[in-house]
Amino acid sequence: MSRVKSRDQIAKMRRAGRVVAEMHEEIRGALRPGVTTAHLDEIARAVLQRRGAKSNFFGYMGYPAAICASVNDEIVHGIPGAYRIRDGDVVAIDCGAVLGGWHGDAAFTAGVGRISEVAASLIEVTERSLLAAIDAMVVGNHMGDVGYAVQQTAERAGFSIVEGYTGHAIGRALHENPDVPNHGRPGRGAKLRPGDVFALEPMVNAGSGQTYALEDGWTVKSADGSLSAHFEHTVAVTSDGPEVLTVP
Ligand code: MF3
Ligand code: CO
Repeated sequence: MSRVKSRDQIAKMRRAGRVVAEMHEEIRGALRPGVTTAHLDEIARAVLQRRGAKSNFFGYMGYPAAICASVNDEIVHGIPGAYRIRDGDVVAIDCGAVLGGWHGDAAFTAGVGRISEVAASLIEVTERSLLAAIDAMVVGNHMGDVGYAVQQTAERAGFSIVEGYTGHAIGRALHENPDVPNHGRPGRGAKLRPGDVFALEPMVNAGSGQTYALEDGWTVKSADGSLSAHFEHTVAVTSDGPEVLTVP
């Protein structure tokens, strides 16, 4: 199990989380047809610099950017570049920051311009699955309750949990143990304790949950070409209930 964080440490993580939220806000404001994903990465880097924070993505196992930008059938870990956002795209933006040695990690998915009904539903359901997972982050619950909340929300809508990828504990490192699966059984797995901090990150496909990785070594796509969405927050379990740290 993860090492729990003190109140003081959680306060430090909140500061890192605030930087991530600011990256989200600025990228949301710039998301429109014609903009390149490389430009969105530059926006993120500018926020990090302004806040005296560093990228925890850049250089992670050789990752070459500060954000991940995953479009349409791309699920996660899309590398920003020359691609220009188009009307109707479903764009997942994943951002992280490290500040004073503490990490934040969060993602959102947005439709650009006019998107299909399925796309709108997928985005709404995936965000709702994250909110359900957050609600399950209470003392006395088990890991399985968190994954169950995500799985139930996605599958009831007829969508699939992405196979082979999970959330994770987070703190002094971007990825700490344990993994936080997006599926589970109620009452199973380790008990949640005050000071547990997890990056909850439902990844949901409109079609099957199977994936493949591109030759770039990073980009993960849906095997059947179906749309995918990703939402993520860094969330602490406290005696007063769940606390989302990646907020303004
Ligand atoms: N939120 C993603 C994750 O936890 C961040 C990927 S970091 C990268 O896996 F550096 F690998 F891109
Ligand atoms: Co993460």
